[in-house]
Amino acid sequence: MPKTYNIAVIPGDGTGPEVIAEGLKVVRAASARLGIKLALSHYDFGAARYLKTGEVLPAGAIDELRKYDAIYLGAIGHPEVKAGILEKGILLRLRFELDQYINLRPVKLYPGVDCPLKNKGPEDIDFVVVRENTEGLYAGAGGVLKKGTPDEVAVQESINTRKGVERCIRFAFEYCKKRNKNNKLTLCGKTNVLTFAFDLWERTFYEVAKEYPGIKADYAHVDAITMWFVKNPEWFDVIVTDNMFGDIITDLGAMIQGGMGIAAGGNINPQGVSMFEPIGGSAPKYTGQHVVNPLAAICAGGMMLEQLGEEKAGKLIERAAIEVTGKHLKSMAAGKMGYSTTEVGDLVAKYVTELPVD
Ligand code: IPM
Ligand code: MN
Repeated sequence: MPKTYNIAVIPGDGTGPEVIAEGLKVVRAASARLGIKLALSHYDFGAARYLKTGEVLPAGAIDELRKYDAIYLGAIGHPEVKAGILEKGILLRLRFELDQYINLRPVKLYPGVDCPLKNKGPEDIDFVVVRENTEGLYAGAGGVLKKGTPDEVAVQESINTRKGVERCIRFAFEYCKKRNKNNKLTLCGKTNVLTFAFDLWERTFYEVAKEYPGIKADYAHVDAITMWFVKNPEWFDVIVTDNMFGDIITDLGAMIQGGMGIAAGGNINPQGVSMFEPIGGSAPKYTGQHVVNPLAAICAGGMMLEQLGEEKAGKLIERAAIEVTGKHLKSMAAGKMGYSTTEVGDLVAKYVTELPVD
């Protein structure tokens, strides 16, 4: 009997439910094709529930989610809810409490996708950012004094623990080794200014690097990295960085791979439950119009199956997505694809059913 994977689905806000519906369509098609059994449970966490009940996450929700094999998330955030309430109360809380200490964000330009960089193609843009996901500036350390007065003081501290930094760096070396592309891991930091935090990162990085003689350990400052993403993206294979820098450089990464409509990510706890999401937001202005690109959500679904150990299914979904970008979509942008959100999901599902399985 094959194992049944229990998956918690949180469609969330805005266009989240629209893209998750397409993601599930494709994940189901791949599972049917490969004999994978899924049991899905939907949760209504997000703005609508909060606006109705005043509750961000109900008591016991985290412990309930802990029991699943994976979580599949659409988007969190709503224009009628003050910025930070849902993001911190749902998304970041899940990342932290489920100890999803890696945010894995592939930056890959698929064939047929318009790239804003002149003279760069799919062979130049194919790298992965390993973002630390539980510490740094996101830890919430700091405070405010004399708020609202001319003497106001606001302190927001970056927390970097040896344990947190080391487990992230170790994951990145292992990932780079398994990927076996250029066998190059770049630490992205700011050792010339942030001489406490990135000294810890740099020392840990080169210590762990000694255990991986087959991997070229490299370093770049974060500001220079943003320049090179644009100028020489082909230099990168795997990049490891802290939470804040990882947040920033992966939005730039998403743009050079064709936009938010196609960028997928995974919040990974290698020993626990991981959560997969399209990295773009809830896109309130497009909600309900069925014009947003579901490929990011679909590819996040593929990453989820891969993380669950169903590598063939993950690869099949990626190959199907590539057929669709290469042969069908006019653009990756909302409203310009030449197809509706649902039609893109149908196309990917069709290829998942028809392509040969490796
Ligand atoms: C992301 C998002 C989140 C982050 C926000 C919504 C809290 O931008 O997943 O990159 O900053 O991590
Ligand atoms: Mn972000």
